[in-house]
Amino acid sequence: MRKKIILDTDPGIDDAMAILFAQAHPDIDLVGITTVYGNATIENGTRNALYLKEKFSFSCDVAKGTDKPIQRPPVGATVVVHGETGFGDLHSSEPEHASADPRPAYQYIIDTVKANPGEITLVTVGPLTNIALVLDAAPEITSLVKEVVVMGGAFGMNGHRGNVTPYAEANIHDDPHAADKVFTADWPVVIVGLDVTEESFFSADYIDGLKAEGGKVGEFIWDVSRYYLRFYANKLGLEGCHVHDPSAIAYVIKPELFTLREGPIRVVTDGPAEGLTLQKFDGRRHQMDDWAEMPDQKVGVAVNDKELLALYRDSIISYGKQVG
Ligand code: RIB
Ligand code: CA
Repeated sequence: MRKKIILDTDPGIDDAMAILFAQAHPDIDLVGITTVYGNATIENGTRNALYLKEKFSFSCDVAKGTDKPIQRPPVGATVVVHGETGFGDLHSSEPEHASADPRPAYQYIIDTVKANPGEITLVTVGPLTNIALVLDAAPEITSLVKEVVVMGGAFGMNGHRGNVTPYAEANIHDDPHAADKVFTADWPVVIVGLDVTEESFFSADYIDGLKAEGGKVGEFIWDVSRYYLRFYANKLGLEGCHVHDPSAIAYVIKPELFTLREGPIRVVTDGPAEGLTLQKFDGRRHQMDDWAEMPDQKVGVAVNDKELLALYRDSIISYGKQVG
């Protein structure tokens, strides 16, 4: 049976790579895309999602999400990484036919999960604000969601700690209060953080290969990633990019690519370590312990990067052949 997902995203260049991967793979039923501020403003990110829906004739819904974090002041769009409007050098046009669902993203998620009890995996590749709003409005949802797969956080595995601050990953840093709420809720969460996403790498040659063999889909990925690759080259000295958001989709398709570690997770919500994610995994008892009553969640600590890259490439090339 195909896996039904709602993809909560801040499109975003690697978000676009993930959206196309989800649409491409036959094991995934992309039911809905919900948008959130982050890489771009909510207006730009939502227009980018609708642009993809129209360009590639997606049948999924698109619902517009929230424009700011629940408590902390907004960090602002990540222009240096994703460009003025989120799609690098490309500027998505207003869609002619596609339009957003009238409901706000959190309500769309609640309604869709309730209509498909036990079947929907929430995949999040942006700040977790929409999902925290879901928990506030309908706490009973935790027993109806199949799984929550989160691209976010960094736990120091394989030497990976933070990307926006020395100790915080961008999606969690954008709304640490929301992330703490999502990770401590009583539902199954799997975190695909920098620990694994920075272990997989799309080289510039790899992306050239997608362009050569992936038809219109590969060409779009190549075009949208030019700005992103310039950021990686100029700021990090790398000829290519890490595989952040597509790794969350890879987990849904083939969880066996990842090694997971179990234990409750908390998020630091203020001070210099704001956005730091910490998992307690040794089972020790302490006199004071803010992890003790929290549910065990899973964190990716290793990935089979070669297979992940092959899976992404094969999916995009075969989807490119269908699209033409
Ligand atoms: O830290 C990487 C994450 O932040 C990705 O989801 C990227 O799209 C940005 O949102
Ligand atoms: Ca993202």
